[in-house]
Amino acid sequence: MASALWALSLILASLSSAALAGVPRRPVDVPFGRNYYPTWAFDHIKYLNGGSEVQLYLDKYTGTGFQSKGSYLFGHFSMYIKMVPGDSAGTVTAFYLSSLNSEHDEIDFEFLGNRTGQPYILQTNVFTGGKGNREQRIYLWFDPSKEYHRYSVLWNMYQIVFYVDDVPIRVFKNSNDLGVKYPFNQPMKIYNSLWNADDWATRGGLEKTDWSKAPFIATYRGFHIDGCEASVEAKFCATQGKRWWDQAEFRDLDAAQWQRLRWVRSKYTIYNYCTDRKRYPQVPPECARDRDI
Ligand SMILES: *[C@@H]1O[C@H](CO)[C@@H](O)[C@H](O)[C@H]1NC(C)=O
Repeated sequence: MASALWALSLILASLSSAALAGVPRRPVDVPFGRNYYPTWAFDHIKYLNGGSEVQLYLDKYTGTGFQSKGSYLFGHFSMYIKMVPGDSAGTVTAFYLSSLNSEHDEIDFEFLGNRTGQPYILQTNVFTGGKGNREQRIYLWFDPSKEYHRYSVLWNMYQIVFYVDDVPIRVFKNSNDLGVKYPFNQPMKIYNSLWNADDWATRGGLEKTDWSKAPFIATYRGFHIDGCEASVEAKFCATQGKRWWDQAEFRDLDAAQWQRLRWVRSKYTIYNYCTDRKRYPQVPPECARDRDI
């Protein structure tokens, strides 16, 4: 028994050290107001603990959202979010980066709510030069409404990585050399919002939002941004941790991270545009590079 425990703790120790390589340093929590401000429906945002946590409220009149003060070209951005608990069907909680112009670049996390006890779906997407249609959908390996979990994006010249806690769930490699546009010259802001999308979100629009359960509340903390302000060249970026924009370990996932990504892909994938041959008879070039096929 004792030796089994000992073996287990060795495994856990090696897992956690493996998780550190290539993952930007655990982000430092800052108050909401350091990096963000509310975008609309100000009365639907509640500030807790002196602004170190905020809650977004959705009712039948409106949702709400907040955005970063700065615009960034590359960075490491993360948010701890506790999703709407209970009956969240029809609601969408989004954490995304966007340049919001006509040929926009965008990096999306979208959490699609569900009926009580039914699993959330996490949809991710990447738009480059106005072109998206790169949806991936997964189930999470935990209930995201029970506790805070950390959702992060690493974006540099080499790759865009989506993380859930320390687990990479998606990577989009720079495949500019294969003719795929890569976001590198349009600054993006970070947006968070909670809104009603019961025309499509839950089971393709079959499940409607139950307004008798309103208000729906999502809770946020962390507010970490370690990015290059749009006016600053990448080599002059500030960081609280490692040089995520060019250090070798951030240019590609390491073996342990690829393994974790494979685990997510094999166990939790619901939909992946990379393997949708009806929609894309030709494999999109970036997918091969992402080892997605
Ligand atoms: C909600 O739960 C149903 C039934 O388990 C499932 O088919 C669906 O994928 C879940 N998620 C969403 C967002 O519809």
